[in-house]
Amino acid sequence: MRKIIIAIDGFSSCGKSTMAKALARNIGYLYFDSGAMYRAVALFCMKNELIKGDNIDKEALLACIKDINITFEVDPETKNSITFLNGKNVEHEIRSLEVSQFVSKIAAIDFVREEMVNRQREMGKAKGIVMDGRDIGTTVFPNAELKVFVTASAEVRAQRRYDELTARGDKADFNEILENVLQRDHIDQTREISPLKRADDALLLDNSNLTREEQMNWLIEQFNKLTQEC
Ligand code: DC
Repeated sequence: MRKIIIAIDGFSSCGKSTMAKALARNIGYLYFDSGAMYRAVALFCMKNELIKGDNIDKEALLACIKDINITFEVDPETKNSITFLNGKNVEHEIRSLEVSQFVSKIAAIDFVREEMVNRQREMGKAKGIVMDGRDIGTTVFPNAELKVFVTASAEVRAQRRYDELTARGDKADFNEILENVLQRDHIDQTREISPLKRADDALLLDNSNLTREEQMNWLIEQFNKLTQEC
């Protein structure tokens, strides 16, 4: 069976990562979370005093961007992907609201995107991967064989994020999260470089009212159609 690249893009908190991870596991592909890379860079800036007030010290970040080491490992127990920043497990830290509130600014910086896109293309060289993000089907892998653009209403997405934070014991305020979701949508869609948009050939998946199982069945159907065709 031929190996393909599966690009999953869409709005924040619409379950892309959970869905992409599960899909990769089902079909025996590698999973890469491109958002985790931008989050890791954001965390790096926060930890290394590269933020002054509301501003990022871009010059300092440019000087060290190539040395920021971001890797992924699979947790042997849960089989989930764990993000490492310069050798340290930061999977939990990069999901905090603090990082979430700051990361869009990092993802809007041209040289950060260029560096991450190059690394992502490298990860897809051998195909057989599922990668999720915002620009995977448009910029990173414009020739990906299967592209899916996922969406859900802002309220549904805020509720999911709220449930995720409270489940892991973090304090959460629904309205603050909803505001963060809307703000991130705005920044992601209006930034100059690689704004979030559906690729012309991406399949649209609105999962506001779909169960995980229904969603997975649909994805597998698309995958089988493509890989069994040739
Ligand atoms: O998917 P996420 O919420 O973990 O993404 C974190 C941030 O990174 C979000 O603001 C969008 C941005 N991002 C991006 O610009 N391009 C990607 N390919 C992935 C994420």
